[in-house]
Parts: sequence; C-alpha cells; structure tokens
Amino acid sequence: MHFHIVTLFPEYFDSPLGCGLIAKARENDILDVSRINPREFTRDRHRTVDDRPYGGGPGMVMLLDPLVQALNELPAGCRKVLLTPKGKPMDQPLAASLAGETDLALICGRYEGIDARLEELFDLDLVSVGDFVLNGGEAAALCLMEAVARFLPGFLGKQESAGEESFSRGMLEYPHYTRPEEYAGLKVPDVLLSGDHGRIAAWRRQRSLENTFRMRPELLAGRLLSHEDLDFLKGLQRTRPGRNLYLALVHHPVKNKTGQDSTTSLTNLDIHDIGRVCATYGLGGYYLCTPLKDQQVLARRLLWHWREGPGAQANPDRARALQGVEVVASLNDAVEKAAGLTGRRPRIVATSAAATGDIDCGEVLQCLRKSPVLMVLGTGYGLSDSVIQEADNLLAPLRLLGGYNHLSVRSAASIIVDRILGDLA
Ligand code: ADE
Repeated sequence: MHFHIVTLFPEYFDSPLGCGLIAKARENDILDVSRINPREFTRDRHRTVDDRPYGGGPGMVMLLDPLVQALNELPAGCRKVLLTPKGKPMDQPLAASLAGETDLALICGRYEGIDARLEELFDLDLVSVGDFVLNGGEAAALCLMEAVARFLPGFLGKQESAGEESFSRGMLEYPHYTRPEEYAGLKVPDVLLSGDHGRIAAWRRQRSLENTFRMRPELLAGRLLSHEDLDFLKGLQRTRPGRNLYLALVHHPVKNKTGQDSTTSLTNLDIHDIGRVCATYGLGGYYLCTPLKDQQVLARRLLWHWREGPGAQANPDRARALQGVEVVASLNDAVEKAAGLTGRRPRIVATSAAATGDIDCGEVLQCLRKSPVLMVLGTGYGLSDSVIQEADNLLAPLRLLGGYNHLSVRSAASIIVDRILGDLA
C-alpha cells in the first residue's frame, strides 16, 4: 500500500516514519510513503500557500492552486482523505476499509483550513480523529496511517493480534499482566495463572464486556450478544446510573391554558405508562405529586388494586411496573423521599417544552454517575415558573427545532429517559 501525504511540513513525519513497525514495514515493502509539499507547486517569489479569508476574520486559508496541482500528481484511482475536525469520526471499520486501497492520499490542512472549493473539485473523504482541534492535519494523518497499517498483511508480528485489539470486536480490551506475579502487594488474577484456557477466555470476555459497559456503553447498544454475555451484563447493571434517576409528575403548581398557576387532576394513563417506563429502565422511583386529598386517595386505591388487589392476580406484570410509584403531596415531599432513599439531596432538574435549558441529557447522565437526580415533569400546560426557578437545572427541550411541540407528558417522559440512559446506562 502506498500512502501519499500532502503536507506543508514533510519533515514533521521524519521520526514517526523512521522508527518502529512503520519503518520495518517500509523496509519490507509492506508499505510505501511519499510526501508531497503543495509549496513545490507555487510560482511566486514568496512561494505563497495561504491568503486572508474572504469576509474577514482571523487566520489564513490555504490557497487552492498549489493544492490542486499537488493532488493532480497523485496516481489514477488514488483515494483521497482530507483530515479535518468536521470529518467522519475515524474508527476501526474505516481503518480496515482504507487498508484495502492501493494508493491512499492523506491531505493535511494548516492554518484556519483549506479553501472550501477543494471539496467541489475532488472526491474527498473527510475524516476527523476526534472532537478537538489540532494545529493541522499532520498529527491526525499519523494516527490514521498507523491504524490503517495495522491491517496490512505482515505489518504485525503475529496476525492474530489485530483481531484481539480494543475495538476490533467492537469492544474495549481486557486488561493484560506480565511478570512479576506480585508487585507492591498487587497480584495477577489467579485465573490467568491457572493454565485453564477455557476459564481464561471466559474471564477475558467478561473483563472486555465490563470495561466497555463502564467506559463506552454506547458500543454495546444494538450488538448481538450471547445469553452468557447478557446475564453477565445484567449483573453489572445493578450498579448502573439509572438507579439514581427519579421522576416526579407534578399536578400543582402547573400552568393552565392562560398561563396562571393551577392544579390538574391525575391521569390514569400517566400513572401506568410512566410507571412502566420507570420499571423498564430500572429507575429509582416515580413520585405522583398532588396536594388534593381526594386525588391522593384515588391514586393510592388504584395502586393498591394493581399491586395487591384483584389486578395483581390478573396482571402480575402490571404490579411490577407500579411497584416504584409513590403518591406525595408536593414536589418537596418527593425531594425528601428520594433523599431518604439515597442519603443525598437529589439534583432537581425541571423540564419544559419552551426553548431554553441549561443542561442536556448527556450532562444529566454524567450527574447520575455521581449522585441522584430528580427529573420534574409538569402536567397541564407545564410546570409553573416558580418550580422552574427553584430547580437546580432546566433540561433542554425536546424537538428544539420542531414547529409542533405538544407531546403528552408520558411520551416526553419516555423520550427523556431514553435520551439520558439509552439501552445500557
Ligand atoms: N485537523 C485539525 N484537527 C483535526 C482533527 N481533530 N481531526 C482531523 N484533522 C484535524
């Protein structure tokens, strides 16, 4: 395979190309690297490769012509990758696919970027190595080159090591140990010294699952896993952040049609459906908040019917779904109950369909990893302003860009919980 690096700094690559496995692969003709400097294609006295951006602003933009000429030098059929933070995220399947090319150009931008018309003139694959900004594409090109080279036959000493790596099977790797057996009181896990290959393989699989579950759960979502894997993950789930999430459905104070504070009645569907969401996602609890005594009596009777009464016989599944539901007089009572269960006052996150908010679902998940969160949902025409003002945070609204924004509260609850926890958290 032949890498063609298009860069204003060819010397940047001297050391990485001259040592380790990459150097060895070049010696053994497993890979070839050439460097093309667009500056070589300039004709003016100053050998200019950049200019000021049209429209103003800081920094300089790489000129089209030297780049176009450099790219015209590439062999026919050469796939062209432009390294840029706005590109498709680099991952292992992309590295494997690029390794199938005979010629691969890696175009490294510098300064503020490249004149956008380059993307119209050439068929480019835009690739990013992460959500951060480098000084230029050179460091990114090195990452990509190394990841791709590892797929080339003969590049790695033992071919099977490529398949054992983190990400090669879509999961993070299990931990490795070597001599001595004990260091500073820390022992190598017994199983690895047992010589029992079946047990070692099972242990490694579980550590791999565990590392992935804890560090990158999104990699497991949607994967086909064996029954053994699923049983193991269910065990891990007992410590999952979803347990720290509590829901409160507020019936007072909420807004009425004219925006004034008022009180709404309970809704059977909200009790059942949000209860089922809580059970499905394994939340810590679900509080129905109403100050109205008759409504409290009604709700408790309904819960008794399904949890202990005739409903429990007819539909034990429903009894399970409603197990975590509790009737309280106010949001404050819900806060106290959750605090009583967790030993800490929960962070109170209000919700609103209005286009403001200071926390998103990803940030709520980060909070849940450390401490409990009570997500407060409003009935009627939404939570009253006083509830929102007293909350610690306001969640960013669902469908921020949509025109129609009138989900039922039980639909909103399902979507919010899934956006926070997804399939695995
Ligand atoms: N150039 C600058 N930052 C980059 C990044 N994160 N990925 C790829 N190319 C880049």
